[in-house]
Amino acid sequence: MTVITDEVLRDPTALAHRVARWMTDLAQAKQSMFAVALSGGSTPRLLYQTLAKAPFLGAFPWQRVHWFWGDERFVPHSDPESNFRMTSEAMLAHAPVPLAQIHPIPTVGVTPEESAQVYARELKTFYGADRFTPTRSLFDVVLLGLGEDGHTASLFPGSPALEERERWAAVADKDGQTRITLTYPVLESCTHAAFLVSGAAKRDILARVRKGDPALPASHFRPKGDLHVFTDFEAAGCAG
Ligand code: 6PG
Repeated sequence: MTVITDEVLRDPTALAHRVARWMTDLAQAKQSMFAVALSGGSTPRLLYQTLAKAPFLGAFPWQRVHWFWGDERFVPHSDPESNFRMTSEAMLAHAPVPLAQIHPIPTVGVTPEESAQVYARELKTFYGADRFTPTRSLFDVVLLGLGEDGHTASLFPGSPALEERERWAAVADKDGQTRITLTYPVLESCTHAAFLVSGAAKRDILARVRKGDPALPASHFRPKGDLHVFTDFEAAGCAG
């Protein structure tokens, strides 16, 4: 895994603040439309809350940013398990985000397979082509988490979605919970990617990913652009 920057922050608050700064600087530097693929789970919630507060609320170029999800739990967006709900409550509902620039993964009125196809179509429409060109990335920033089993997005160990190189989105399963996930080629079509990893529970798995353990889906993530790993002391195994 080619890591460009590896930053260890004191605690989850410092981590959220650092990544909010990083995203704001990148979005401000790009004078045109900016596309972000959001991570779900619990780790990024504090980042989203931080972006929706001063000083970032006033500095982040909300009018130019489009929001996508790297994966979603196949539950209604009103469900407590929904990544869309988590992100909305933490950030989107508190910031001047044009509704047309919010692109949730559909989870109602469609089957999981249809949801993956519909979202793939939406991504291709946004990208403006059905196939990637090496010189142009789909996303400006892709945010990713790391599961204790080494998964990222909803790319789980042993999942058929790991082998997917053609389809842009796929159906996955986590302990009986249906998920929709973007596939490696889509998540890797980015200018900047960042893993956000927090807490002692992630220490061992993070060390294995850093060594490139081939059994772990996160080890196989090869972004077109640069890769940043933002961790806190606990996850990095640093003494306070
Ligand atoms: C999800 C995520 C998933 C998450 C990891 C880490 O929908 O759950 O996209 O990949 O990032 O499971 O989750 P935590 O941040 O809750 O530890």
